[in-house]
Amino acid sequence: MEFKTIIEPFKIKTVEPIRWTSQEQRSQLLREAHYNLFLLPAHAILIDLLTDSGTAAMSTRQWAAMMEGDESYAGSRSFERFRLAVEGIFGYKHVIPAHQGRAAERILFNVMCKKGDVVPNNTHFDTTRANVEYVGAEAVDLVIPEGKDPANLHPFKGNMDVAGLAQLIERVGARRVPLVMLTITNNSGGGQPVSIENASAVRDICRRHGIPLYFDACRFAENAYFIKLREKGYEQKTPKQIAQEMFALGDGCTMSAKKDGMANIGGFLCTNNDALAQQEENLLILTEGYPTYGGLAGRDLEAVAVGLEEALEEDYLRYRIASTAYLGRHISAEGVPIVQPPGGHAIYLDARAFLPHIAPASFPGVALAAELYLEGGIRSVEIGTLMFGEHATMDLVRLAIPRRVYTQSHIDYAVEVILEVWKRREKIRGMRIVHAAPFLRHFTAQLQPL
Ligand SMILES: Cc1ncc(COP(=O)(O)O)c(C=O)c1O
Repeated sequence: MEFKTIIEPFKIKTVEPIRWTSQEQRSQLLREAHYNLFLLPAHAILIDLLTDSGTAAMSTRQWAAMMEGDESYAGSRSFERFRLAVEGIFGYKHVIPAHQGRAAERILFNVMCKKGDVVPNNTHFDTTRANVEYVGAEAVDLVIPEGKDPANLHPFKGNMDVAGLAQLIERVGARRVPLVMLTITNNSGGGQPVSIENASAVRDICRRHGIPLYFDACRFAENAYFIKLREKGYEQKTPKQIAQEMFALGDGCTMSAKKDGMANIGGFLCTNNDALAQQEENLLILTEGYPTYGGLAGRDLEAVAVGLEEALEEDYLRYRIASTAYLGRHISAEGVPIVQPPGGHAIYLDARAFLPHIAPASFPGVALAAELYLEGGIRSVEIGTLMFGEHATMDLVRLAIPRRVYTQSHIDYAVEVILEVWKRREKIRGMRIVHAAPFLRHFTAQLQPL
């Protein structure tokens, strides 16, 4: 008998209380945080859907492995476990640990890019774009047109526009393109997957021009499961086999293990290129740490080594994708505009369609995120004009689901809160910036309602 209900594939062993606040308190807290939810104290949040990054609940196996952490400065046994786990899935020759994804990005772009270069990606994540631009290179987003249309039901909306990539390389010349990146899944574009077919086509273009292909692999397990569900010929393969096939198309990757590494901290950089690995390790030693720990404790390396395998378990991925889709289905059934189909790690509200009376320049996503907090203590994040400035093609509010943290009743509550805000959407006002930093301004910007 196959039951319809897809249950959480775990029992809860340790609990952490969450706390209610009154609407007056939340209104005051919002003013004090200058309407930027990053500036709220976490204890004033009931359900925190700010990010799925570093917020996972770890398993008993991960905690047990952490007790075995070898904290030796050099040659730690934990690094060897970590290296073998990464190698077994990703298959690249060099595994360079880093404290999180952006540390891997900084090292990669410092070593591979220079002023005047161009880096194509399906969609750069905010830290990726910032790290590319920081070395004076240009970050170009080349997702397929369907990926920019929130209502479009294309099964692989994270795919790269292959013709657009070929034209770009033709226009700027292959010498100015030090690498091409594919972000799996495409976080900024709605947590949408990339197909093996598309990655193969991108790889072919890269090979033709002698350009290496790198993956931003944060949510590689969710991407692999979408391929299993949606791409012909992959129904019978395991998520691990699919991930291995994907990574075999590339020359390396950056990874934030705070996502599909199921860990609270950690990341890595991989490459098949010996000369690059040498330079990357030199830079690692300068800023992150010795190459057998890269800014992580031995116990962190252990947690990631176990977490990478757990993220690929089919029971887990079935529940993960189903519970995210559950949230999307229940709000879109009431007319709430979301990026369709639901992504792997998050539901993205389409703030431009939710609040059509607020122009992108008045930050509809920021306004909507503030209202969700005011209504029910839910923290989300704007991915739009505040985050990307004039590069923003959509204004989204991301409700990211931490891994293995919330149960279905928490999600039912979130549905209720969103629907309450939906009912009074016409009264919501836009925002204006009163203070902003030159890079990654969304983290610290201060805003005011218009
Ligand atoms: C697609 C993508 N790339 C890179 C990163 C950066 O990773 P980290 O936050 O570990 O620095 C993130 C984090 O959210 C991400 O989603």
